Amino acid sequence: MKRFKLVTPVQIMLGFIFASARFLWTEDKHIGTTHYTYRSNKIPKSFDGYKIVQVSDFHNAYFGRRSKHLLRAVAQAEPDVIVITGDIVDRRTPYLKRAAVFIEQITKIQQTYYVTGNHEAHYKHFNKLYEVIGRSDIRNLTKHSAVLERNGEKINLAGINDVWFFGDEENPKTYRSFYNELKNTVNDLPNRMTVLLAHRPELLSMYSDTDADLVFTGHAHGGQIRLPVVKGLYAPHQGVNPKYTQGMHENNGTTMIVSRGLGNSRFPFRVFNHPEVVVVELKTER
Ligand SMILES: [Fe+2]
Repeated sequence: MKRFKLVTPVQIMLGFIFASARFLWTEDKHIGTTHYTYRSNKIPKSFDGYKIVQVSDFHNAYFGRRSKHLLRAVAQAEPDVIVITGDIVDRRTPYLKRAAVFIEQITKIQQTYYVTGNHEAHYKHFNKLYEVIGRSDIRNLTKHSAVLERNGEKINLAGINDVWFFGDEENPKTYRSFYNELKNTVNDLPNRMTVLLAHRPELLSMYSDTDADLVFTGHAHGGQIRLPVVKGLYAPHQGVNPKYTQGMHENNGTTMIVSRGLGNSRFPFRVFNHPEVVVVELKTER
């Protein structure tokens, strides 16, 4: 006769804890790549099929030794250019080494451009981070705009610091200064297609009030927990049931991409919301 061993409540509890931990780890570390196509008659013919790969909100997260899983995902996307839209560090953690290695390695894949997020604005080791960025081949767009060029045809590439670099966010003057600099930076560029890097998606109405055609943002972390009806549950500066947590959005002729990002901050989990590498392919429309 077969003997059945009873499972004790402690074993059930341990099994539940193990399964939950494994689920959360997978949700947090399994990188997905999302592909979008951006069509416009402002895209020069030479840029037809050009791939912009976006990495956002790294937050010093672990993606294998020396970020190898993330770097592999970026390389597999075969970028023509890479853009980083802020929060490369998390202001609460001091692991600058991980961010430094990531910065050094990603530029080996393709030319990389960067703008700050709110976490850089309040980062204790900000000067050290800027030294690392300064030594690297990353081009910091918060200082100078750039030009992407193919066969003599050009696209503007602009960027702006996060709002927190402009002052206390409770003070309306801060947003006015941000808006003024944004407008001056973008609208002073030569009259051609303009791509803008900016950290926050909730400021779409400001971006679309400039000559920016295509904007890359992050910051919302996909709403942290994604459920079928609610989509993203919560995002910083948008609160509960946020509007901009991922995807492609259009306003007044400006298209905004929102990356779900890679790492976490105060809320330490992602649920049904895998870390994301974004690929935008440009298609010339005639
Ligand atoms: Fe952020």
